[in-house]
Amino acid sequence: MDHYAVFGKPISQSKSPLIHSLFATQTKQSLEYTRVEPAINGFDSAIIQFFADGGKGANITAPFKLAAFEFASNRSDRATISGAVNTLKKCADGSIFGDNTDGPGLVQDLLRLSIPLKNKRILILGAGGAARGVLQPLMAQQPALLMVANRTPSKATLLASLIPSDNLTACGFNELNSAGSSFDLIINSTSASLTAELPAVEPSVIAAAKYVYDMSYGDKPTVFMQHAANLGLTNVYDGLGMLVGQAAESFFIWRGVRPMVEPVIQALREKL
Ligand code: ATR
Repeated sequence: MDHYAVFGKPISQSKSPLIHSLFATQTKQSLEYTRVEPAINGFDSAIIQFFADGGKGANITAPFKLAAFEFASNRSDRATISGAVNTLKKCADGSIFGDNTDGPGLVQDLLRLSIPLKNKRILILGAGGAARGVLQPLMAQQPALLMVANRTPSKATLLASLIPSDNLTACGFNELNSAGSSFDLIINSTSASLTAELPAVEPSVIAAAKYVYDMSYGDKPTVFMQHAANLGLTNVYDGLGMLVGQAAESFFIWRGVRPMVEPVIQALREKL
């Protein structure tokens, strides 16, 4: 049976084994998918051992996405721009291909939710690893504008410089708040939701949006989603579909089969 695993530290909380076992059942693929928790400096030896033991592919989560990027023999363009790898695949010639499926996972989920992207004005809040991971696939959807706004403006500028384009701009929250701009879609990629904080963005900027998407998720709407709903927005979504979407893209890279995400999102939602 082909063996896959997710590597991270900690890893017991990971939903990837459940997601991939649901995909395997649904698509009638025979595979096993386990968890690996290497020591903090032990990623390379753990992944070398995994592939030496016949492992076919791996998902990589915090804090090893940069180590996985370095480990890969070759990488997709989207992984190169994101500087991080969340999917490794052992190829027929023994080389290890590295990809980042977070961006496709997000884009697939936005399209699943019927959120238009082409020629639209998109604001992404945050300029950390989560934002960087989705930049190229979002730009590939040809928005009229993708603005990266961050509490620390220099990080937004650095991120936007990765893809030279008139349609990709950067600013700090102060500039965003004073510009009076409006957006079709606002994506929260900050880690503020994890600590139940709100990014310091003027309510008027949020209230003017048609859609709000938080990359975080939980058993109840995130504070950012609640904030948007309190401002009167009705099209407000969490990142559970992105989680399943990035897993579906990894599954496709490994198995050449695209699983249906909807039933898996529903199954996970019931377990939150
Ligand atoms: P991740 O991999 O989740 O993106 P990260 O690389 O540490 O994590 O980046 C966290 C992002 O969330 C950053 O953009 C950070 O803003 P700063 O660059 O100014 O630190 C943002 N962030 C975290 N807490 C925030 C808060 N309370 N308000 C606004 N932005 C916040």
